[in-house]
Amino acid sequence: MRIVLLGAPGSGKGTQAALLQEQLDLPHVSTGVLLRTAVKNQTGLGLKAKAIMDRGELVPDDVMLKLIEERLGQPDAANGFILDGYPRNLSQAESLDALLERLGQPVDEAIQIDVKAEQVVARIAKRASEEGRSDDSEEVVCKRLRVYEEQTAPVVGYYAERGLLSRVLGEGAIDEVLQRIRGVLQMSKGS
Ligand code: AP5
Ligand code: MG
Repeated sequence: MRIVLLGAPGSGKGTQAALLQEQLDLPHVSTGVLLRTAVKNQTGLGLKAKAIMDRGELVPDDVMLKLIEERLGQPDAANGFILDGYPRNLSQAESLDALLERLGQPVDEAIQIDVKAEQVVARIAKRASEEGRSDDSEEVVCKRLRVYEEQTAPVVGYYAERGLLSRVLGEGAIDEVLQRIRGVLQMSKGS
């Protein structure tokens, strides 16, 4: 099963993908995590991406395509994956389709996690005080939300047009949101 999770910064993509990874035994592929690891390890990619991420902007599409192509080509992704943070604009959505067509692995489900803006701002403010992620400052969060509205929100329509989109409410307890996603994926309670 090949799943794309969509949603604003702070909507819970990473949280839900980590839970689904265990339950579905599929790798959780987060471009944010891949980039933060590259930054931490000071690789060429990390050095290039850090300033862009700290401004809350998007890393260039060609760089991201190379990264995702490499990751999805690894053996653990052969039976499916849960994508979190990619695609993030229409050009990335088109590139992903072309890549997955080549691999013979089209997207099965795109799930949009809906959370109100006030709620995501509150969640990220809490995380900023607890974890200190470098792009979680108030100013950068505003920028990330603007970039999301302008560039990423149209990706929801892209999947809707292809009949692949479901929407779930991302508010309430983490487990409630997980059950809604499991409902969309038609997973039985026990599995
Ligand atoms: P990325 O790491 O993808 O960040 P993001 O999309 O801005 O989102 P977050 O990770 O902040 O939120 P999330 O939806 O994963 O929510 P989470 O589960 O953490 O990207 C970072 C940067 O990398 C980008 O700005 C860009 O620069 C670059 N980048 C990444 N991908 C790119 C791409 N494809 N192209 C170009 N550039 C790219 O939850 C948030 C918080 O809320 C957590 O503390 C969590 O514990 C809490 N929480 C979760 N669920 C609930 C709940 N139900 N109730 C209460 N709290 C909850
Ligand atoms: Mg995340």
